[in-house]
Amino acid sequence: MSDSRSDHDNAALSQKSSFSPPAAMPPCLQEFIPQDHLPDALSVRYRDDLYRNENPYHGQRVWEHFVANNALEFRRVKSDLTSDAGEEPNFRIASLNLEEANLLGVGNHSRVYIAPFQLPPPLHPSTPSGTVSVACKTAINDEEPRSLLENESKIYAQFPRSLQEELLGRHSARPDDRPEFLAAVVPKSYGYYKIAFEESKAGFEENIDEETKQGISRYVRSLSPILLMENCGDMIVPFRMPDHQKNHCLELIARLHGAGFTQGSLYPRNIVVQPGPLTLPPAARRLHTPSFRIIDFGKGVYFDPETCNEKAADFGSFLNDMLTEEARARREFNVDMPDGRFELCTTSYYY
Ligand SMILES: Nc1ncnc2c1ncn2[C@@H]1O[C@H](COP(=O)(O)OP(=O)(O)OP(=O)(O)O)[C@@H](O)[C@H]1O
Ligand SMILES: [Mg+2]
Repeated sequence: MSDSRSDHDNAALSQKSSFSPPAAMPPCLQEFIPQDHLPDALSVRYRDDLYRNENPYHGQRVWEHFVANNALEFRRVKSDLTSDAGEEPNFRIASLNLEEANLLGVGNHSRVYIAPFQLPPPLHPSTPSGTVSVACKTAINDEEPRSLLENESKIYAQFPRSLQEELLGRHSARPDDRPEFLAAVVPKSYGYYKIAFEESKAGFEENIDEETKQGISRYVRSLSPILLMENCGDMIVPFRMPDHQKNHCLELIARLHGAGFTQGSLYPRNIVVQPGPLTLPPAARRLHTPSFRIIDFGKGVYFDPETCNEKAADFGSFLNDMLTEEARARREFNVDMPDGRFELCTTSYYY
């Protein structure tokens, strides 16, 4: 059976997004980048009418004109959620182009784009153009979506590397087994960025009056923060998936729980699939050996026993949330499986 035939046969297990980014998009960034090496800031160019969807002041053409014609700076929020104030000597800025045409998916709270991303030195992607593409999650302009995105950014900052990439490891529940590649569970994260707009550096045109300047500033400052992550494919369609793939997804959920995280809204729309395995170069990956990831951690929770005050009570409710989440996943996948799969998930890794 040829590879293209098997891909075709398996294409049904995912649901292509109804949004179709252009084929000319550069290859996806799939490398893990430690937090310390992420860009300090983004220089973002908005194309088309993208900003209309995220901003309440869209009636004012002059404000839109400003956004469409200026690169806007977003600063990375460090994991303690305080943006860096000053410019460090080796302050590094990446560039990102957001276009409405490059919509990857839409949720109840957000719009997610695929966008060309130019990393600053010393990070050099080995693509012909030196550019890669990343998924950019933006919140729709309301209080709840914004706070979900903020929570998601904290969860991504807490994910251990072992959940973000394929690793050679061993399930401790099966200690006699040979080490095997353990699949990545969640997308790699490339940072959370917030608009940093200073009127004094805005470069306003000379004929703009004070009131309009203030309007532009307010408009720009209300742009959604951006969460950058790895593009991990298309939504799954559980009823078309063979049992072993459903079981594999349940195992990913078990590993997520075992690392101390719940996802909080574990529906099939929040699991995506792409050709795998990710241990092979992109051209050699196939959909009949898929790679699944759990996404969307707006309602995610991290249980950290080190910092938890009321340990017993909190752990009890966390355990309860885990079991509820597992039960939901089994229902969604229509898989009959005993409770408590999370016990399977303690793993050891080899770097
Ligand atoms: N990392 C990713 N890789 C590929 N597609 C993604 C990624 N993140 C999001 N998407 C796409 O965008 C859609 C919306 O993203 P997401 O689920 O994070 O938004 P949401 O508004 O929080 O969703 P919900 O309606 O579940 O609350 C997803 O269903 C998926 O199709
Ligand atoms: Mg979602």
